[in-house]
Amino acid sequence: MKRFLVVFVALTFSLNLIHAEDDTEGSFNLVLGNCSYALARDLVYHEHVDKVFVPLVQRNATSVWYGDQTVYCIKALNENEESEGGVAFIKEGGISHHFVTIEMHSKTGNALHYDVQVYGH
Ligand SMILES: *[C@@H]1O[C@H](CO)[C@@H](O)[C@H](O)[C@H]1NC(C)=O
Ligand SMILES: *[C@@H]1O[C@H](CO)[C@@H](O)[C@H](O)[C@H]1NC(C)=O
Repeated sequence: MKRFLVVFVALTFSLNLIHAEDDTEGSFNLVLGNCSYALARDLVYHEHVDKVFVPLVQRNATSVWYGDQTVYCIKALNENEESEGGVAFIKEGGISHHFVTIEMHSKTGNALHYDVQVYGH
């Protein structure tokens, strides 16, 4: 019985950790890597994500890039001036990889506007 309890507590604890990571990963403006030295010619991916608001709905979008270059700077800048909500986060790949998947979520009932830039060399 005691052993079962320990296993149960450990499992609950690790599940909480995974969940906590999910929650803290997103940021309003995502800036990762060596962006202060990012060069215009290294811009391998550029996208303006624009989704109009729908009442009571969270707008989501995913940007995917993969190629020959190694990613050294990622920016997903929130351009929705009307709301302080919205998060962007890396789902797969990222800095030092040859691919990246960036996911964006608006605040419920808000538009989703992001400027996504990936730099690689
Ligand atoms: C950022 O890039 C510059 C130019 O390539 C380089 O000199 C610098 O060491 C890099 N900084 C980091 C923290 O990687
Ligand atoms: C957007 O993502 C959130 C969180 O994963 C989810 O709960 C929601 O249903 C998604 N919205 C749409 C319209 O798919």
